[in-house]
Amino acid sequence: MCGIVGYIGSNQAAPFLIEGLTKLEYRGYDSAGIAVLNDQIICVEKTVGRLAALEEKIEGKTPEGCIGIGHTRWATHGRPSDTNSHPHTDCHGDFAVVHNGIIENYMELKEDLISKGHVFKSETDTEVLPHLLEELYNGDFEASVREVLKRVEGSYAIVFMSKKDPDKLICTKQDNPLVIGLGDGENFVASDIPAIISRTRRTYIVNDGELAVVKKDSVWITNSLGEPVTKKVFEVNWNAEAAEKGGYEHFMLKEIHEQPKAVRDTLSSRINKDNSAVVLEELGWTEEYVNSFSKVFIVACGTAYHAGLVGKYYIERMARVPVEVDIASEFRYRQPIIDDNTLTIVVSQSGETIDTLAALKEAKRLGSKTLAVTNVVGSSIAREADQVIYTWAGPEIAVASTKAYTTQLIVMFLLGAYMAGLRGTVAPRRMKELLTMLRNIPAQISETLEDVEPIKVFAKKYGFNNDVFFIGRALDYEVALEGSLKLKEISYIHAEAYAAGELKHGTLALITQGVPVVALATQKSVYDKTLSNIKEVKARDAVVIGIAATGDTELEKYADHVIFVPRTDELLIPLLAVLPLQLLSYYTAITRGADVDKPRNLAKSVTVE
Ligand code: AGP
Repeated sequence: MCGIVGYIGSNQAAPFLIEGLTKLEYRGYDSAGIAVLNDQIICVEKTVGRLAALEEKIEGKTPEGCIGIGHTRWATHGRPSDTNSHPHTDCHGDFAVVHNGIIENYMELKEDLISKGHVFKSETDTEVLPHLLEELYNGDFEASVREVLKRVEGSYAIVFMSKKDPDKLICTKQDNPLVIGLGDGENFVASDIPAIISRTRRTYIVNDGELAVVKKDSVWITNSLGEPVTKKVFEVNWNAEAAEKGGYEHFMLKEIHEQPKAVRDTLSSRINKDNSAVVLEELGWTEEYVNSFSKVFIVACGTAYHAGLVGKYYIERMARVPVEVDIASEFRYRQPIIDDNTLTIVVSQSGETIDTLAALKEAKRLGSKTLAVTNVVGSSIAREADQVIYTWAGPEIAVASTKAYTTQLIVMFLLGAYMAGLRGTVAPRRMKELLTMLRNIPAQISETLEDVEPIKVFAKKYGFNNDVFFIGRALDYEVALEGSLKLKEISYIHAEAYAAGELKHGTLALITQGVPVVALATQKSVYDKTLSNIKEVKARDAVVIGIAATGDTELEKYADHVIFVPRTDELLIPLLAVLPLQLLSYYTAITRGADVDKPRNLAKSVTVE
């Protein structure tokens, strides 16, 4: 995610801006910049690459001034480049802005501003903000910013700076973090606490819709109606490392709980206003183009491969196009049957997994059209594929993939629905029903993550078993595979996922008294069959932890424990059913004293074959 900093006081701004951005590096970024106001001139210095490149660029000519803003950019709209880096300014350099989030309606705003003569320099959504302020500025900085915000849709944390108002910064947020650090004769603004705790531990946490006017000796906060808000000072007692994890003990837990926002961001602007269709502007496909596909391959590794298995269901069930899913390291050597009527989709959080990159190149060599689904803008896989759809999960630090997986499922669902819309293979009423439920998934993820206590109990009670099985049918089986990998890779337990209907063909021999079996039973179409398989393992005295949709009253008659997830369409419930499995693996690893964020033998991005 992007990082934002701001400073206003009696000292030089630039040193804090660089220092603060350094403390936000953990958030992941591909470019950095600062803007400092001095003597009615806003000096902007920004560059693609690491902060070191920015420091090198300003060495010996550090912008002087006691008010400034800074930014580290995690690219979403517009590739990593000097021009796309923040801060962004208006046509005349009167205003400078830094932004974290996504301006969903930036295209229509940009077209309108261009029609009014504004000249844009970047490909970003953010650049509409300083030009809007230029267009609407009426001498009252705060009132003008409010007018800008009335026209903006999306998620954001923004800091505005105006050369006409050199005594204040104005900042606001919606669905993205923003804190204000309270100094002595100086004040600080940042995306996150690590940037400011070396200067002050007294902070205001800004809430959605609030607007703060930050001067060097005062902070004035009002709500969206302009009414004053009384803020309680939040004393930060975290150390620097804990602060990077947002107060969570591990990055993995933080990223599990970031999933509502990651999914909401990944969905944003990709479903039209009346929920009747998916909008993937980055593809621009036609009915004829989609109908030209005789087969789709989905190729990936690890968790991304598991997302591909779910993607198969989405594309086949909605778009009615045959899909094969391959492990990348197998795909590239099995001489797959590919021609120019094949679409190969590669899925990769990092965009750098060498097996997946090699499979992509092999598919291209054989004449396939290619599409990448990745979380890193400008990554090797993003650049190699013909087209790319980005997940907007923000950087994933923990080796065990969580928010990348759920946002990959979101992109696969959007793609399946998009293809179905072009092929007319889903009735309009059904499409609207599905997309309406899809919009509700972030809230249902939040609801599912609210109560983790039962899962902590299971982790303590069963965490020392050396064998754990995950079973399910249809999409439940695909999610079981992901749950099994999570448990293996961070708790080191030998976990195995099995198609529930396949157990009796061998593996049932391993089910003995007390063996924990996590049984997913969310798929209505195969529910009775799954129940029979649960009875099979119970007959061998297994301990069954069931995963079911809320309102299910049958499963608890046979399972020892049941974890419920909110009810939704069976195509969408994998987005919820995986959550208890992520939490179970996390708390089990804690129980076993494993290194959750950096498990033994593993790397976050496997760039060797
Ligand atoms: C995820 O929990 C694993 N750490 C691993 O399987 C990962 O999904 C796999 O290496 C693929 O990585 P990628 O998505 O960056 O290509």
